[in-house]
Amino acid sequence: MNSIKQLASWKIRNFILPDSTTHLKIGQLFSTYKLTLNVEQISFPNKVLKHPVRVLHLSDFHASSAVPLSFIEKAIRRGIELAPDLICITGDFVTGMPYKYQEYQQILALLPAAAPTFSCFGNHDGCDHNFETQSYYDKLGVGQLLIDSGIHNLYNESQNIIIGNQEINIAGLSDLKSHGMCTEQTLPSRGDGPEIPIVLMAHNPDTKDKIVNFDWDLMLSGHTHGGQIKLPLWGTPFAPVVDKRFIEGLKQWDDRWIHVTRGIGNVHGIRINCPPQISLLELI
Ligand SMILES: [Fe+2]
Repeated sequence: MNSIKQLASWKIRNFILPDSTTHLKIGQLFSTYKLTLNVEQISFPNKVLKHPVRVLHLSDFHASSAVPLSFIEKAIRRGIELAPDLICITGDFVTGMPYKYQEYQQILALLPAAAPTFSCFGNHDGCDHNFETQSYYDKLGVGQLLIDSGIHNLYNESQNIIIGNQEINIAGLSDLKSHGMCTEQTLPSRGDGPEIPIVLMAHNPDTKDKIVNFDWDLMLSGHTHGGQIKLPLWGTPFAPVVDKRFIEGLKQWDDRWIHVTRGIGNVHGIRINCPPQISLLELI
């Protein structure tokens, strides 16, 4: 049954959806491929930070006919120019299959060549509701792509890393909608965390409500694409999150921080008043 759905999904994408040239022409009429940058400063009053750490937060590349690899490469090169100490990518590397594996792998490999690079999966990277999202049924394809690219994907796991002489705990959860999330093995209970900051990658910002009782200081998310389409008076009617306060930007949430980037790519080929975004976060 799964293979029939997979085949049907592949046919839909390859024979009905516009090709990348058409997407580019349409997209250039809007803000689909206009890269923007936001820089934010974040402090953790209760944590030990010996020196500032520059985190490049990228998300939602969505390699597909709507998002050519040349555009993803451009965004990655712009991000690397910012000289980050650490790079975090919060999922949705592809929209669906097929994609040009080797070419994409070489582009992604630019990131770990520049700075330690970590990621988490998004809902398009392999999950059990993939027929709706036209993505993979399992995580092996994107998982292998990340391994071959030298990106350390954190799937319900965390580790301490050292940047300069600063230690940071970096954690990654499975996507909220993919039903594979295991917070107990990823994060300490609330109040039991280390003195160093815990930076958590979780694709969907709605994840926050499931992890209230665990220790983390900054959650990095994508998924929303900033709403992808912003309309006058109507706002962002298509933002795929329950809590509409967390569609984009840096927000405080009780005594912690959540940063939602608009990400690089898109689905369906159009962003309106909602351009792609490279995010540089300075932990101070
Ligand atoms: Fe996405």
